[in-house]
Amino acid sequence: MRIAMIGTGYVGLVSGVCFSDFGHDVICVDKAEQKIDMLKAGQVPIYEPGLDVLMARNVAAGRLSFTTDLAAAVDGADAVFIAVGTPTRRGDGHADLTYVMAAAEEIAQAVTGYTVIVTKSTVPVGTNRNVWETVKAANPQAEFDVASNPEFLREGAAIDDFMRPDRVVVGVENDRAAEVMAEIYRPLYLRDFPILTTDLESAEMIKYAANAFLATKITFINEIAGLCEKVGADVKEVSRGIGLDGRIGNKFLHAGPGYGGSCFPKDTAALARIGQDHAHPMQITETVIRVNDEIKKRMIEKIRDACDDHFNGKTVAVLGVTFKPNTDDMRDAPSLSIVPALIGGGAKVRVVDPQGKSEGEALLPGVEWCDDPYIAARGADVVVLLTEWNEFRALNLSEIAASMKSARMVDLRNIYSKTTALKSGFETYVGVGR
Ligand SMILES: NC(=O)c1ccc[n+]([C@@H]2O[C@H](COP(=O)([O-])OP(=O)(O)OC[C@H]3O[C@@H](n4cnc5c(N)ncnc54)[C@H](O)[C@@H]3O)[C@@H](O)[C@H]2O)c1
Repeated sequence: MRIAMIGTGYVGLVSGVCFSDFGHDVICVDKAEQKIDMLKAGQVPIYEPGLDVLMARNVAAGRLSFTTDLAAAVDGADAVFIAVGTPTRRGDGHADLTYVMAAAEEIAQAVTGYTVIVTKSTVPVGTNRNVWETVKAANPQAEFDVASNPEFLREGAAIDDFMRPDRVVVGVENDRAAEVMAEIYRPLYLRDFPILTTDLESAEMIKYAANAFLATKITFINEIAGLCEKVGADVKEVSRGIGLDGRIGNKFLHAGPGYGGSCFPKDTAALARIGQDHAHPMQITETVIRVNDEIKKRMIEKIRDACDDHFNGKTVAVLGVTFKPNTDDMRDAPSLSIVPALIGGGAKVRVVDPQGKSEGEALLPGVEWCDDPYIAARGADVVVLLTEWNEFRALNLSEIAASMKSARMVDLRNIYSKTTALKSGFETYVGVGR
């Protein structure tokens, strides 16, 4: 199969590289010239474990290439994937479909022969039909179908998620498009990974429902964590106790500083908006959004408590600023609300993150970037664990405590325990929900 992948971000690049590894001929397209220049030079513009090696292998095999020329990539392709961003539209919570529709217009002008135009971006119900109408209006002669193929990969584990998915969802309107999609995903089909074929609307809905459900699960345990603090229970024990119930499951039950990242905040906002537009308010999702915002604020209060109720003149070492480990993605990371609150209150903030600096430098003005946690903690009043990178899981706490001005830890990921921290010389340890 010849595939054009429009957009080389976290989803488009991983999908394009993995499809080429399946044996397809893939051309990845992006408007950002700098990204394409890097990719052509063999460099990966994002941090995603394993992507560099897989990319190099498929470029060397002649199956994978990069261009800014959308028309050339689309010409003759069997399938064109749209994997551009769908951020929150300013002001109303809607998914901003400007990039998707602009891509559809451009594809319409370039398409030749029968082509399936596949939307991989997360888009509201009805968007695939709009793509079909847009392409048809712009090029009435075009021979094409549309397909919805939402993506479920997680940044940081994206290649494994793509190669070994829990399921692939494909929304189509006819057998011809279904056959092209089946051919593209054949390597997964052969290995018995479930491929779920639905209508367009259901496929679009599945993606929002999945993300809203996961955001709800996280927010539920975070709310339970707040109650645990009041009543003297330990949320880690509670998570384990409920997660062992097969009907509940143990994933997404780790209490923390509230969900962030490139998907959950915007997708919950978009789902709430879709509900409002259809006079069917998504009350659970709307509540989840509100509770998650409150949880983030509660984290700032926890740090303030550990700083003797004021940030002024305090030095805070923040370990981790990306929204989760193993990515450089900073979109809607909890650090983006927590760090400015510390600085706004007069704190000096030192930051360490294995991959966050390139994105974070512009987003977190006024912080001091340190190379390792030991340097960041030296002379600090409080150390805050914000992202659970492996590098922060086995720190020499005694060395850190001994080097601090006052040895206090706020562990927003519950990596350590109070017993361990106090034994290591910390005078205060504050976790979440314990
Ligand atoms: N990031 C994730 O973990 C994830 C997971 C599942 C689904 N998604 C969804 O996938 C979509 C893409 O997300 P992302 O994180 O990869 O976004 P991203 O912002 O990292 O990448 C989007 C890319 O598209 C390019 N682009 C925009 N318009 C273009 C055009 N007309 N032609 C060529 N290139 C164009 C941009 O330059 C950018 O490089 C979103 O809808 C998102 O919700 C993301």
